[in-house]
Amino acid sequence: MIITVGGTKGGSGKTTVATNIAIFLAEQGRKVLLVDADEQETTADFTEFRHDTFEGQVGYTLVKLNGDKIYTSIRDLSEVFTDVVIDTGGRDTISQRAALTVSDVYLVPFVPRSFEMWTLAKVEKLVKEVKLINPKLMAFSLLNRVEARSQYVESWTDYLKASEDIEFIDAQLGDRVVYSHAAIRGMGINEYKPRDVTAIREFSDFLQKLFVRIPAPIQS
Ligand SMILES: Nc1ncnc2c1ncn2[C@@H]1O[C@H](COP(=O)(O)OP(=O)(O)OP(=O)(O)O)[C@@H](O)[C@H]1O
Ligand SMILES: [Mg+2]
Repeated sequence: MIITVGGTKGGSGKTTVATNIAIFLAEQGRKVLLVDADEQETTADFTEFRHDTFEGQVGYTLVKLNGDKIYTSIRDLSEVFTDVVIDTGGRDTISQRAALTVSDVYLVPFVPRSFEMWTLAKVEKLVKEVKLINPKLMAFSLLNRVEARSQYVESWTDYLKASEDIEFIDAQLGDRVVYSHAAIRGMGINEYKPRDVTAIREFSDFLQKLFVRIPAPIQS
């Protein structure tokens, strides 16, 4: 299973979601490759912190790849790993397109803060174009950083659900401090203490809802 976490907007939580998916899958005993395809290299930095926190026992393999190298390298590497999770930057780059041409799943987090509709239209266009080359690609949207009592959630849900190209995952990740507290230690939210059980439950629920839609490698 090759999952690309992307979109055309910065700061939507791509790295947060990608690193947590990798850690949740690795925890299930799966052989995970995490690919940092963003020149900011946040996932690589995260993995450095993780290396220090867990004394080298990272639990997954990290590679940094960009540009069209992604296309050839991932196809070869996906033979070796059960799951490949690719974190891309927040722009429509060659790296993101190359990742999508070899991916099974495209996951796009959206922060329901203000109504920036152009983002979805751009992503829909990207999905349509990539599907000409990679018809097996399944695209999903997800609400991330949902604030309690947010006034935007309902309208964003309706808006994302209406897309014909991107399927809405009916799960929400709340805006929770555990994400940043865990990230600076290179931890998944399921590893950070004290445990934020609500955040963990939300993330597990999201993964379960994602994996029932696709030929599931796991049922989390
Ligand atoms: N559900 C969440 N709750 C609280 N904070 C979050 C959540 N998701 C992400 N964040 C925080 O939001 C910030 C941006 O997240 P992240 O770096 O994952 O976004 P990104 O889409 O990868 O950004 P970029 O486009 O720069 O690569 C980080 O500080 C992260 O800790
Ligand atoms: Mg990022």
